[in-house]
Amino acid sequence: MRSVDPALVPQRRLRTGARMPAIGLGTFGSDHVSAREVAEAVKGAAAAGYRHFDCASVYGNEKEVGAALKDIFKSGLRREEIWVTSKLWNDRHGEEDVIPSCRQSLADLQLDYLDMYLVHWPFPNFHPPACDVTFRGSGAEAYIHEHFMQTWRKMEELVDRGLVRHIGTSNMTIPKLKLVLRDAHIKPAVNEMELHPHFQQPELFDFVRANGIEPVGYSPIGSPGRPERDRTPEDTSPIEDPVIRKIADRMGMHPAAVCIKWAVQRGQTPIPFSTNPHHFAGNLRAVVEHPLTEDDMKAIARIDRNCRLIKGQVFLWKEGQSWDDLWDVNGEIAPP
Ligand SMILES: NC(=O)c1ccc[n+]([C@@H]2O[C@H](COP(=O)([O-])OP(=O)(O)OC[C@H]3O[C@@H](n4cnc5c(N)ncnc54)[C@H](OP(=O)(O)O)[C@@H]3O)[C@@H](O)[C@H]2O)c1
Repeated sequence: MRSVDPALVPQRRLRTGARMPAIGLGTFGSDHVSAREVAEAVKGAAAAGYRHFDCASVYGNEKEVGAALKDIFKSGLRREEIWVTSKLWNDRHGEEDVIPSCRQSLADLQLDYLDMYLVHWPFPNFHPPACDVTFRGSGAEAYIHEHFMQTWRKMEELVDRGLVRHIGTSNMTIPKLKLVLRDAHIKPAVNEMELHPHFQQPELFDFVRANGIEPVGYSPIGSPGRPERDRTPEDTSPIEDPVIRKIADRMGMHPAAVCIKWAVQRGQTPIPFSTNPHHFAGNLRAVVEHPLTEDDMKAIARIDRNCRLIKGQVFLWKEGQSWDDLWDVNGEIAPP
């Protein structure tokens, strides 16, 4: 398998001036891909030319990914050549929990610092791994800005202490980000959000870019491997869209590769997950070879279906709510 020269991979310039590779490897194996397989993929992806890895404590595999990173450094890559993101989980938002949680990720990943640390979701809660979407944890909370800022101050302290280089948000909305931008001493460098051709989030995408926040796009292929419990009958699949398939046929590639090309050309940083060496290598090659035409980009812009796949139902905080309440669809933050 041909590897890609990392120097050819586009980079995003963050508000600090740092450069982040414009594609990363996702590492969420959910409940069907083992930590060992994900760690193997991290090593394989580094050999294929990936220099950006999207991790999180809740993925339950940071120890194994850390061992893989250690091997990668042993093979000659320097720490500063690799971009590593990790995330603070929802049950660690407490002021006393943020720094220990980050230190745990650093210990597991065998790193001295993280390039990026994100607040994974803006809602504090606890739920057991692989629980059903109808599960509601006791202590689950709405977005309460004062609480979020207490967490954020600790995130800022992580930067001041040199434990992380950048901090960012994930699963945020415009109303919430407006408040954070108003009150943060260190503004978020990225916002990680669901982005694929059937969920383009144009308003949020434009808002974050206009405010110096780089959009990182998760589930860029439409998360075809997500568990059954996370699917609803309304869900659509970008890789089955006739427009994507037609472009893929013309270019002689998998529709997934078209989704990745579109993402990077549009200006977001996709973080596709794969443990299949042909898939992850092909996804990386897609961003350095044979760009989509302007007509392709326009055609894909027209197939947005506003179809959110990762709805976050388990993070709701009271009975009788709909998952829309997490996403401020009426332009206002849902009351507690
Ligand atoms: N911040 C958040 O709240 C959040 C939420 C969700 C996800 N994420 C991050 O985003 C990452 C990616 O999201 P995701 O895993 O939901 O979905 P995704 O990347 O859209 O889809 C991954 C699936 O696509 C398949 N695939 C990948 N490349 C392919 C190719 N070239 N051809 C055919 N199939 C291909 C993979 O299977 P194979 O292994 O067989 O290739 C896997 O089943 C996660 O791993 C995680 O790091 C973050």
